[in-house]
Amino acid sequence: MAPAPEWWGNRVDANVPELRGMDKARQDLAQLLAASELLEPGAFSPRTVALDELDYIHEVLRSGGLRLRVEARACRELVDRLDALNRQYCAELLGRLQAGSLTPAELRAELNRHTGYTGSSTSLHLEHEPVDRLVDGMLGLGESAVEPTFYDRDYVHLEDTPVRVLLDLIDHVPLSAGQCFVDLGSGLGRAAILVHWLTGATVEGIEVQPAYHARAEALAASLGLERVHFVLGDAAQADLSQGDVFYLFTPFKGRILRAVWATLAQQARLRPLTVCTYGAVSLAAAQQPWLRPAEGRGPHEFALAIWRAG
Ligand SMILES: C[S@@+](CC[C@H](N)C(=O)[O-])C[C@H]1O[C@@H](n2cnc3c(N)ncnc32)[C@H](O)[C@@H]1O
Repeated sequence: MAPAPEWWGNRVDANVPELRGMDKARQDLAQLLAASELLEPGAFSPRTVALDELDYIHEVLRSGGLRLRVEARACRELVDRLDALNRQYCAELLGRLQAGSLTPAELRAELNRHTGYTGSSTSLHLEHEPVDRLVDGMLGLGESAVEPTFYDRDYVHLEDTPVRVLLDLIDHVPLSAGQCFVDLGSGLGRAAILVHWLTGATVEGIEVQPAYHARAEALAASLGLERVHFVLGDAAQADLSQGDVFYLFTPFKGRILRAVWATLAQQARLRPLTVCTYGAVSLAAAQQPWLRPAEGRGPHEFALAIWRAG
């Protein structure tokens, strides 16, 4: 046999990073299997981080085929175990909230344990934290896909506001039980319900997608939330006479947004209003002459903007 050409060693070496990746995945799995603190009921955040890591580890182990099937199965079993503990944790919190043994202040303290938010939040909406999974888990969201059927060139698809941004809103916009918070483009009802849980304010969500609206309504009904209302319809034609605080996480643009600004400007002539915006819509809000940015809360694409009107 002819001697191997000089470059042959390099070709073998080219596989080494892949093998190293598998070894690393096995080591990481071994560490997580030994981390008994992950099994403590309150360890929701570290479990959530571990679950993300395990997702990746599982992918790497699976790519090892039969050679790594035992490790891949152990990984899957650990995922199921941690996932079950997280579900149980969310279900217990929800049970206590519904039974009245978890007050809004206690719920807030619980949420604070699972977020890096400490009073002001600049956050890209894709950067989700354990607190987002906690709220999703309590609301049973993220379990099954809900298909949109409404399309419009000015429509913006569903994305959730990060919980840290909603905490920022609650901390900087006084909302009491006597007030009404309106989420324009309320999706599956997550933001509206969380605001209600934490402040006691009446909330209304306006949503154009029938499937999202139905899911949000069913959720509020199943949770027995009598002061959480979801209206099915186009925000451009909605009756906005009930709100004190309006929230827009870039729900639509163009014609729809112009119609909503016009209705809100009209309402602002009748009573003082607060408008909160998050995402690109904040730049459009800055163009509205009837909106004044609250101190230090002007337009920013990745932070909550707060506007006063009237
Ligand atoms: C970016 S998501 C925001 C969801 C939620 N407000 C939140 O912050 O988590 C935008 C939502 O607005 C809804 N939407 C889009 N156009 C709308 C319209 N014309 N009227 C009412 N809702 C609309 C979408 O279906 C989607 O649920």
